[in-house]
Amino acid sequence: MIQKVFKWLMSPLGRVALVIAALAIVSVAMWGIAYVQSPPAQPIDFPHQRHAANQVQCLYCHPGANRGASSGLPTPSKCWGCHQQLSITQTSKLLGPLRDAIANGTPLQWVPVAQVPDFVQYNHRPHLAAGLSCENCHGDVASLLHAYENPQVMNMGWCLACHREKSAGNPELEKKLLDCATCHY
Ligand code: HEC
Ligand code: HEC
Ligand code: HEC
Ligand code: HEC
Ligand code: HEC
Repeated sequence: MIQKVFKWLMSPLGRVALVIAALAIVSVAMWGIAYVQSPPAQPIDFPHQRHAANQVQCLYCHPGANRGASSGLPTPSKCWGCHQQLSITQTSKLLGPLRDAIANGTPLQWVPVAQVPDFVQYNHRPHLAAGLSCENCHGDVASLLHAYENPQVMNMGWCLACHREKSAGNPELEKKLLDCATCHY
C-alpha cells in the first residue's frame, strides 16, 4: 500500500498533486500573514502620483530594476536634486522629514514592502528583458496618492501562475520556469 502511494507520488500526476498540496498550504499561510499585516508607516507618506504626473520616470528613482537584482530607493540627496528648486519644498508639511534629513545628513528609513524571503532567487532583469512592465507586478503605482502597498501577495503561487501562463506551449521554457532550482538554490 505505502509503496503504491509512493509510486503514484513519483509519477508525473503525483508530482503535480504534491506541488498543488504544497501551494495550498503556502498560500493559506501567506494569506494569513497578509491578512493580519497593515502597511507600515513610512517616514514620508510618499505620493507616487505627484511625481508620475510630472513625468518623472520609474527608472529615474529605481534605476537598479534594469541593472540587476535590486531596484533600490532614492537617497535624500536625489530627492533634493529636484526639491531644492521647488517652492513647495519649503512650505510642505509632508516634506518636513526630507528637509530634516538634508539638514542633518541622515537617511530616510523607508520600510520595504515589495519583498520576497532571502531563500528565493528573484531578479528584475530577466523580467524586464521579457517585456513585462512594472505595472504587471506592482499595479498602477503612478496613480498612488499615498505610500506604496503591494497589489497582491507576492508568494510562490503568484510567481508560478505567471510562469505557467508565459511558458504554456513551450516545453523547454516551461521546464526552466517551473523548475524548483530556478527560484531556490
Ligand atoms: C525629478 C524630480 C523629483 C524628484 C527626484 C523627487 N521629487 Fe518629489 N516632487 C516633485 C514634483 C515636481 C512635485 C510636485 C510639486 C507640485 O505638485 O507642485 C513633487 C511633490 C512631492 C511631494 C508632495 C508635497 C506636498 O506637500 O504636496 C512629496 C511628499 C515629495 N515630492 C517627496 C519626494 C521625496 C521623498 C523624494 C525622494 C525620495 C522626491 N520627492 C523626489 C519632483 C521630484
Ligand atoms: C521621485 C522618485 C520616485 C519615482 C519617480 C518612483 N518611485 Fe517608487 N518609490 C519611491 C520612494 C521614495 C518609495 C518608498 C516609499 C513608498 O514605499 O511609497 C518608493 C517605493 C516603491 C515601491 C515599493 C518599494 C519597497 O521597498 O517596498 C515600488 C514597487 C515602486 N516604488 C515602484 C515604482 C514604479 C512602478 C514607479 C513608476 C510608475 C515608481 N516607483 C516611481 C520613489 C519613486
Ligand atoms: C515580474 C514581476 C515584477 C516586475 C515586472 C517588476 N517588479 Fe519590482 N519587484 C518584484 C518583486 C518580486 C520584488 C521583491 C524583490 C525582493 O525581495 O528581492 C520587487 C521589488 C521592487 C522594489 C523594492 C526594492 C527592491 O529592489 O527590492 C522596487 C522599488 C521595485 N520592485 C520597482 C520596480 C520597477 C520600477 C519596475 C519596472 C521598471 C518593476 N519593479 C518591475 C516584482 C516585479
Ligand atoms: C507577471 C509574470 C511573472 C511573475 C509574476 C513572475 N515572473 Fe519570473 N519570469 C517571467 C518571465 C516572462 C520570465 C522570462 C522567461 C524567458 O526567459 O523568456 C521570468 C524569468 C524568471 C527567472 C529567470 C529564469 C532564467 O534562468 O532565465 C527567475 C529566477 C524568475 N523569473 C523568478 C521569479 C520569482 C521568484 C517570482 C515571484 C517572486 C517571479 N519570477 C514572478 C514572468 C513572471
Ligand atoms: C517561480 C519561482 C518559484 C518556483 C519555480 C518555486 N518556488 Fe518555492 N517559493 C517561491 C517563493 C516566492 C516563495 C516564498 C513565498 C512563499 O512562501 O510562498 C517560495 C517558498 C517555498 C517554500 C517555503 C514555504 C513556506 O511556507 O515558507 C518551499 C518549501 C518551496 N518554496 C518549495 C518549492 C518546490 C519544492 C518547488 C518546485 C516544485 C518550488 N518551490 C518552486 C518561488 C518559487
